[in-house]
Amino acid sequence: MKKILLIVSGGIAAYRSLDLIREIKRRGDDVTCVLTKSATQFVQPLSFGALSQNKVYTDLFDLESETNIGHIKLSRNADLVVLAPATANILAKMSYGISDSLATSILLANNKPLLIAPSMNVKMWNNPSTKNNIEKLKKYGHIFVGPDEGEMACGEVGSGKMSKVEDIYKEIEFLLKPGPLKGKKALVTSGPTIEPIDPVRFISNKSSGKQGHAIAERLSKLGADTHLITGPVNIPYPDNVRVTEVNTAEEMLNACKNSIPADIAIFAAAVSDWKPTKNFQNKIKKSFNDGDLNLSFSQNPDILRTISETNINRPKLIVGFTLETENLMESARKKMLDKSCDWMIANNHIQKNKSVFNSDMNEVSFLNDVSDESWGLISKKNVAENLCIKIIEFFDNAA
Ligand SMILES: Cc1cc2nc3c(=O)[nH]c(=O)nc-3n(C[C@H](O)[C@H](O)[C@H](O)COP(=O)(O)O)c2cc1C
Repeated sequence: MKKILLIVSGGIAAYRSLDLIREIKRRGDDVTCVLTKSATQFVQPLSFGALSQNKVYTDLFDLESETNIGHIKLSRNADLVVLAPATANILAKMSYGISDSLATSILLANNKPLLIAPSMNVKMWNNPSTKNNIEKLKKYGHIFVGPDEGEMACGEVGSGKMSKVEDIYKEIEFLLKPGPLKGKKALVTSGPTIEPIDPVRFISNKSSGKQGHAIAERLSKLGADTHLITGPVNIPYPDNVRVTEVNTAEEMLNACKNSIPADIAIFAAAVSDWKPTKNFQNKIKKSFNDGDLNLSFSQNPDILRTISETNINRPKLIVGFTLETENLMESARKKMLDKSCDWMIANNHIQKNKSVFNSDMNEVSFLNDVSDESWGLISKKNVAENLCIKIIEFFDNAA
């Protein structure tokens, strides 16, 4: 039996959470409810108590519950926290870390996966403030279900209706299922790094981030607690993945150091090997140095090597990516040994006369200490899938 903590905020869809409780109970799981003050204007706590057969919590300063530090314990005792419906107001508070009620304090102190089912008027949903808040919360790794489109209680039509109870329950079921990588912590780097020349110019590369993002998405779907550290990209972030945005190689290295201990570290980012030695404080004028601009470059830190060679908290499995334009396999094996990583994915730069950059396809080979195997020309999602199969085998064999 799994334990679900259901937080209900004050939207018109609050009454539909009663059906959600019935569904959770019907499936044999336990549910405890927390209502915001506004939620109690829409539905009686008594109904939640009767259906859940558990005490209903509404007050942060409840003496009886707080002798037990209830606002911390409630999420510690749960397997999953569900916020349904989630009002625009509570989402805004969460995005700013406000904890002015029992519900928001639980959400801020929560250490369990959080499923959010937003419900609000279409204009509220499309408001740029709400959009920014949602984007921020997605970056923190929270999982969203819905909202659906349709006619609202106010008569307006559009996106904002709370998802159907069966769809919310499907997500709950998926999140509670023990994935093969549940309990494992993964870090994935993705995208390019950019190295500033002056305040408006930089050097970078053509990496789209599609491969790293696909790997982070797959790891998360398999249950790993996944942290994606990404350079600037133009693709959406995967759901249920914590994201840290960085620009330079140094920032990426610091983010990686802060992300360990981890069980799995996959370095799929195209890190710039060099950075301009001098970062000019002001925009370099065209007339600078009689019109001739000579830049010198110094080496960036080697992220793969640094993390692979750490003695304290070295991730159990470290995978590097390498892209070469010549002697691919030879260079890849040399790099794997030289940088002390466990596996290497060797990227063929050109497939069928097309560059790998920004493509949905990839042509790679997998190398470990005993063998190498070509995976041929397959989608980046399939590369992620194949790699994750290997990762699952690795941890199964290690167990
Ligand atoms: C009749 C009525 C219906 C409302 N429905 C919603 C709603 O569906 N979604 C929403 O975000 N806010 C809705 N609101 C506004 C919220 O109740 C208000 O923002 C409140 O402060 C939310 O508090 P809470 O987030 O602490 O629960 C509604 C207000 C009223 C009076």
